[in-house]
Amino acid sequence: MPTQLKYDTSLGNNKDLALIVAPDQVNQLTELQPEEQQYVQQQVQQEAKLISLNRYSHRLYILLSPDAKTEALKNEALRQAGHSLLKQLKTDKVESITLLDKTGTDASLYIAEGLCLSNYQFQKHKTKDAKPSPLQTITIADENLSGQEVQELANVLEAVYTVRDLVNEPHSHQTATQLSEQFEELGRQAGFKTEVLDLIRIQSLKMGGLAAVNQGSEEPATFSIMEWKPENAKNTKPYILVGKGVVYDTGGLSLKPTPQSMDYMKSDMAGSAIVAGVLYAAAKNKLPLHVIGLVPATDNRPGPGAVAPGDIITMHNGLTVEVLNTDAEGRLILADALSFAKKYDPELVLDFATLTGSAMRAVGKEGLVVMGTAGEEVMATLKQAGDNVHERTVEFPLWDEYKKQLESDIADLKNIGGTDAGHITAGKFLEAFTSYPWVHFDIAGTAYLHSEDSYRGKLATGSGVRLIYNYLSTLAR
Ligand code: BES
Ligand code: MN
Ligand code: ZN
Repeated sequence: MPTQLKYDTSLGNNKDLALIVAPDQVNQLTELQPEEQQYVQQQVQQEAKLISLNRYSHRLYILLSPDAKTEALKNEALRQAGHSLLKQLKTDKVESITLLDKTGTDASLYIAEGLCLSNYQFQKHKTKDAKPSPLQTITIADENLSGQEVQELANVLEAVYTVRDLVNEPHSHQTATQLSEQFEELGRQAGFKTEVLDLIRIQSLKMGGLAAVNQGSEEPATFSIMEWKPENAKNTKPYILVGKGVVYDTGGLSLKPTPQSMDYMKSDMAGSAIVAGVLYAAAKNKLPLHVIGLVPATDNRPGPGAVAPGDIITMHNGLTVEVLNTDAEGRLILADALSFAKKYDPELVLDFATLTGSAMRAVGKEGLVVMGTAGEEVMATLKQAGDNVHERTVEFPLWDEYKKQLESDIADLKNIGGTDAGHITAGKFLEAFTSYPWVHFDIAGTAYLHSEDSYRGKLATGSGVRLIYNYLSTLAR
């Protein structure tokens, strides 16, 4: 059950209420009794960020609005404050909280975002000892915000929940076919169109990369095409989102060592989940943009018939690739999707993939690795969108020198580079299959976390959805 986020300005008397207040406003709060006023001021002097008053019929929380260097950092501090508030609400077993901003800003939106994202849980496989969070409803009561603004945020957060659910679901419950069925279901719910190509179609389209990775699997590959095309679209050429849909990555015959590196490889479809999540949010919010999502999906296994190191395969665009490491499978399936994207004559193609351990080592969980050919303006707008939602991007270069590492003795390319800059050589590999403005997002560091990180939570984060939705919505303006 996703946490409900709604807009309602009627306050009533007995609702659990959180007031967002600037520290110097505290002495003007008409809501407080004299004794409460004294207590709150005392707490503010001690630099409390969250003050909690038990009024027996309800609780009153005072959230002190944070100070920060930039607008973006202030908004992030508010999301973090939402995370802290949730801890208190859980302790107090609050089921429904109303947010009321006294600072005359849109602070409630960010508090609600942090609160809602922190309240996510994945408990569907627990048959006992599930501990559902008491909090079910968040209400924004600010007169200066509109119901539409709140609903837009609610839809984006629902998309993040959906992405987290998809990524947390293990391969035992999510084959490539089941993943594409999920996309179809999301399309029905949100109003975008989904077409799923089966293995026969994939082979007849000569998607040799996707077919090769799928060779060692018992489950057929799928290729999903999602489309949101409103009549009032502002763009004539579509924006295309491509996502890596490796539902489980064993490494194939170049088997990953277990236990460490294989245990969470159910999350290797996180890129594909972002694509579906952004389409979901775009369709729900009726974003006036034509957006297409492309997802090649398969598991990567060493079963009979598996592609072997040294094999040569022919890709969708006709290039030949010497597969020297079957664990570098993401780039093989993405390359086919990138080449397929050309037929739409796209305005811009963005791809998302848990592609390399190297990207994770480069920036850890703090940023999304990006590189591309879309030019400075696109890069700057994406960077700004990343700062806005605190899903920050770090750009790496696609200098031609790196391409030397991909030279094969007997084919056009090989699928691995040397030991250094592995995230860049992976990007260079993908670039060979693009022929339009393009940006690649390596989300290996941010998609899935092993310990809690504020409102990003633990396990699947849904990282990328808020960033790309924010980016697209600036284009739609
Ligand atoms: N799915 C992995 C990358 C990955 C690693 C994602 C850790 C999340 C956490 C990808 O398919 C992979 O195996 N990449 C290899 C490439 C190498 C063989 C060139 C890697 O990064 O080691
Ligand atoms: Mn791999
Ligand atoms: Zn992988």
